[in-house]
Amino acid sequence: MAMQADFLWMDGELIPFGQATIHVLTHTLHYGFGVFEGIRAYQREDGTSHVFRLQEHVKRLFESAHIIGLEIPYDAASLERACTETLVANGLAKGYLRPIAFLGSDTLGLGALNNKTHVAVGAWDWGAYLGEEGMAKGIRCKISSFSRLHVNVNMVKGKICGQYVNSVIAKREVLKAGYDEAIMLDTQGYVSECTGENLFMVKNGKIITAPYGSSILGGITRDTILALAGDLGIPVQERLFTRDELYVADEVFLCGTAAEITPVREIDDRTIGGGRPGEVTLAVSKKFFGVVRGDDPARPEWRATYTLKA
Ligand SMILES: Cc1ncc(COP(=O)(O)O)c(C=O)c1O
Repeated sequence: MAMQADFLWMDGELIPFGQATIHVLTHTLHYGFGVFEGIRAYQREDGTSHVFRLQEHVKRLFESAHIIGLEIPYDAASLERACTETLVANGLAKGYLRPIAFLGSDTLGLGALNNKTHVAVGAWDWGAYLGEEGMAKGIRCKISSFSRLHVNVNMVKGKICGQYVNSVIAKREVLKAGYDEAIMLDTQGYVSECTGENLFMVKNGKIITAPYGSSILGGITRDTILALAGDLGIPVQERLFTRDELYVADEVFLCGTAAEITPVREIDDRTIGGGRPGEVTLAVSKKFFGVVRGDDPARPEWRATYTLKA
């Protein structure tokens, strides 16, 4: 991933990308007390561009901040504008957006009630998060030896910076063991989600995923898939399930803003279904990519159009 761009939005203005620096004593760098989002912009076949579910992502940024008690000194409309302005300033007809709100370096005490909250939005072109080949043929996953966050220790409905250490150690563990992604179980042993994606399995034509009220992040892509599966007439069920149910699933796929829809062909060295993307995964993917890219006109309210300067 090359994180290269010309400009970055920081504290209310666009500044040259290389000048978007922070002090080494920045509070959030030490303690992880900050919140962020990951958002994608797409270009349609007719050349127009849009940000996918921008309002929902900015809303979740504010919800994450509310969960931890961080005041964001902007309103939602300003941050939505900051996202599109950053894409336009960088001439990005499509790309990935990374808004982040964090505490500055005023003091380093844990309380630090008066530190300034900084907000930044980065944007760059980012292809398939789990690789083009993985997306086409399916990836290999391993159940992590690390549990997903406990709901009363961490605030699982927030995208909170420090919480991602859990995801990073799980991801590094499986990458070093030669797999593509980690599947995390909750502290009771039920399948939760992956390090940066929600997880779905397909059994007997039905799509099954962990319930919203469990230890998962409430993924916007997860919500998109549940809605589109409904439109396609595919039955969906939100319930807890175990790792051995995954082993004998007909199909498994992951979803997230970065990973989009990525099929899983193997878990813990066991082939899943036919060892390639299955029928339901392919049907959902086709609808999903049509809608997120905007070539399928369904759900126009999910696409916030923006125009690049001529
Ligand atoms: C832990 C975790 N689960 C799931 C997701 C998927 O969420 P979304 O579809 O909103 O990107 C993400 C990515 O944001 C994540 O970090």
